[in-house]
Amino acid sequence: MRFLLVAVGLASLARSQLLGIPTVPFTITSDKTYDLRNLHTIIVDLSHSSTRDQDGLTLIPPSLWEFAETFQGDLAGIGVNAVVLPGIKAVSNAIYLTLDNDKSQFVNAAGNKTSEGYRLSVTSSGITISGASPLGAWWGTRTVLQQALINDKKLKIGTGIDSPGWSERGMMQNVLHLHLSDHVWDPAKLGSHQLALELYAGFRIASTDPAVAGLARPTNETYSPSVFDNLQQKCASRGVTILPEFESPGHSMATTDWRPEIALSDFSMLNLSHPETLPTVKSYWKAAINNFHSKIVHIGADEYDSNFINEYSTFVNDMSEYIQSISGKSTRIWGTFPPSHAPGSINVNKDVTVQHWQIGQDNGLFDFIDNGYTIVNSDDYFYLDLKYSDGNQYPKELDIQRVFHGSPDGSAFAPNILDAANATNNPPRDSPNVLGHLAVVWNDWGPNASTYHEAYYMVRNGLPALADKQWGGSLQEQDYAGLFATLQPAVPDQNLDQRIPSKGPTILSYAFGSNIVSSLTATVRDGSGNGYHGSLENGAYVSGGALQLNGRSAHLKTPLTSKGRNYTLSFSVLPKSHGGALFSGPDSSFLNGNGTSTNLMLVADNIAYPVNLTLALNKWSDVKVEAIGPQTFISVGTQRQEVTILMGIWGGYMEEGPMAIEAPLAAIGQGINGQMKNIKLSSDVL
Ligand SMILES: *[C@@H]1O[C@H](CO)[C@@H](O)[C@H](O)[C@H]1NC(C)=O
Ligand SMILES: *[C@@H]1O[C@H](CO)[C@@H](O)[C@H](O)[C@H]1NC(C)=O
Ligand SMILES: *[C@@H]1O[C@H](CO)[C@@H](O)[C@H](O)[C@H]1NC(C)=O
Ligand SMILES: *[C@@H]1O[C@H](CO)[C@@H](O)[C@H](O)[C@H]1NC(C)=O
Ligand SMILES: *[C@@H]1O[C@H](CO)[C@@H](O)[C@H](O)[C@H]1NC(C)=O
Ligand SMILES: *[C@@H]1O[C@H](CO)[C@@H](O)[C@H](O)[C@H]1NC(C)=O
Ligand SMILES: *[C@@H]1O[C@H](CO)[C@@H](O)[C@H](O)[C@H]1NC(C)=O
Ligand SMILES: *[C@@H]1O[C@H](CO)[C@@H](O)[C@H](O)[C@H]1NC(C)=O
Repeated sequence: MRFLLVAVGLASLARSQLLGIPTVPFTITSDKTYDLRNLHTIIVDLSHSSTRDQDGLTLIPPSLWEFAETFQGDLAGIGVNAVVLPGIKAVSNAIYLTLDNDKSQFVNAAGNKTSEGYRLSVTSSGITISGASPLGAWWGTRTVLQQALINDKKLKIGTGIDSPGWSERGMMQNVLHLHLSDHVWDPAKLGSHQLALELYAGFRIASTDPAVAGLARPTNETYSPSVFDNLQQKCASRGVTILPEFESPGHSMATTDWRPEIALSDFSMLNLSHPETLPTVKSYWKAAINNFHSKIVHIGADEYDSNFINEYSTFVNDMSEYIQSISGKSTRIWGTFPPSHAPGSINVNKDVTVQHWQIGQDNGLFDFIDNGYTIVNSDDYFYLDLKYSDGNQYPKELDIQRVFHGSPDGSAFAPNILDAANATNNPPRDSPNVLGHLAVVWNDWGPNASTYHEAYYMVRNGLPALADKQWGGSLQEQDYAGLFATLQPAVPDQNLDQRIPSKGPTILSYAFGSNIVSSLTATVRDGSGNGYHGSLENGAYVSGGALQLNGRSAHLKTPLTSKGRNYTLSFSVLPKSHGGALFSGPDSSFLNGNGTSTNLMLVADNIAYPVNLTLALNKWSDVKVEAIGPQTFISVGTQRQEVTILMGIWGGYMEEGPMAIEAPLAAIGQGINGQMKNIKLSSDVL
């Protein structure tokens, strides 16, 4: 509602843009609209249907035709069904996808040409999107989808040219930078090989190359080459390039665990004077590089020992030349040691791009840009460290205030803002040496501190606002909440919120009365009205108004998987012994003890989060799991406890954090020896 009022208010003032995320420069030429309900075809310009953008970061760019097919699926997702056909011109009730011959009209903030721009033209009979490239046309399709959602499928009539100001806009828009090797940090342990081995370390890309056998670890937490390929293909199909990083010569414990002889006395760092170090790092890049489909790769080069700056620069230059020679790719590093003009200094080559992250490490403008380097802005102004806040610099969620007021003069943030407080440290908006901005989420507290979905919630509410600024849009703070509420639930091809369609607040209800159980079909009816009927599996049956379970594989199978925050999952249970999964699903499970402990525990990503509550045997208990925002609570009768985790903060101290865990819903009662009844899932809390 709020959004509609705002839109009406603005329509009379500014007709030169479409509200959206990002905003789109657009001149409205008529009070009429084009109604997408009349659409029947997406026509792909025959002369460009197999053209691919060559200028972006990806080596696997989709063709115009392939983008059209993905767009067709997204339109169907909002109830607009159209066929994709080749053609040579716009026709009535079609969206015509073509490429524009005049590339000079698509320019970025520096005034340079960009292949990511597009021209959108809406008439009373249809729509034409002409891209600077197929990728540009793809961004135009995003605008059509957004405007359809905002204006009840009716698009305003007029024309606009829209181009991103910067070429790298992450994490959500067009670059997903994945940091694929690192370890938990504890300075007290890094000086000793024995103690360092206790720290969790990961190297995420598996390989069949014998030269790197044993490096990828933990083996159950790595991407196989085919899975990683698939991930990159899926991202590319939506205009997103994965930019992979293996970190060295600091943050390198996954490597030093594997090759201890090349460590410095600080076990997290490689000894760059050791003759085996460079060949070792080259060996793992060689093993992976053909499976990386970006034109740039990231070699880390962050937080190294400042006694060895020349060795560091030589290493970066050697690696950059090596990567170029075996793959043609270029190299990126984190901003670490500013170049020095002192005699005898060796500096990083200028074809290596620098990801600026903290003014204390480097002054992106004076140290790098003024010395001829090209940078990406990842200033820690937009750093997040899962669930941790120092109360000041690092907030717990991506801060929307910083998006709309993150420039020294209080105006909106932009990719050229390297210092939110001091304008002297910022290059001009049209500096061609700023490639863009990438926001960052770290997980410094190790795998037990969080779940995959919690990482999503850190950026869920704020990232779209930041995306407008990364593009160069002019979204106003007062318009954001309304646009977000309209657009976020409809983001295509994902359900990260783990929503379950439901007629009312009760999503699922299994009461086990005789009238709703069919022994013939072994079905338990869902009383919610949603039709999520369960099926009795492996000897599970209903008797005396309760589900009877055998402590082995008997269970009630549901058609659901998981439910994200918020929810209340309630039930009654009579266990004859401890053990078994009360509920289980792909993201989590809820256990009645684990064999050594009788405590109730939620398990997410294979890590158990127990509470100090135990079910009494041979009597009925009423149990509840409640997810409220970032917190989860478990109750047995009148006793209620929060599910929490002690996070080890940089090895320095422990801090208690909340755990948000999805409701596990796929199977009920597997391994439970006893009975369950009155099972209900609701979206209501408290
Ligand atoms: C375009 O970018 C290049 C660097 O890639 C720069 O030298 C040139 O000045 C830029 N052009 C404009 C118009 O800014
Ligand atoms: C690094 O390796 C070199 C060559 O093996 C060795 O001489 C040197 O002592 C090592 N440095 C450290 C700090 O371990
Ligand atoms: C702003 O930055 C400049 C250049 O780095 C520096 O000389 C100046 O002291 C800074 N001003 C403040 C108020 O910190
Ligand atoms: C069971 O849970 C307890 C408490 O969290 C834990 O200490 C123990 O290692 C777990 N045992 C197994 C077999 O997972
Ligand atoms: C991988 O295996 C280790 C050791 O068994 C286990 O602790 C960890 O939870 C597993 N990780 C995942 C994601 O399954
Ligand atoms: C767990 O609960 C029991 C019984 O209420 C209590 O005696 C014990 O101190 C609790 N343990 C912890 C670690 O809170
Ligand atoms: C969950 O409930 C909390 C507390 O009432 C509320 O702030 C939050 O917006 C809710 N989250 C969702 C996704 O509904
Ligand atoms: C979680 O892991 C950290 C190290 O990564 C450790 O310090 C902490 O004790 C662990 N917390 C629990 C509750 O096991």
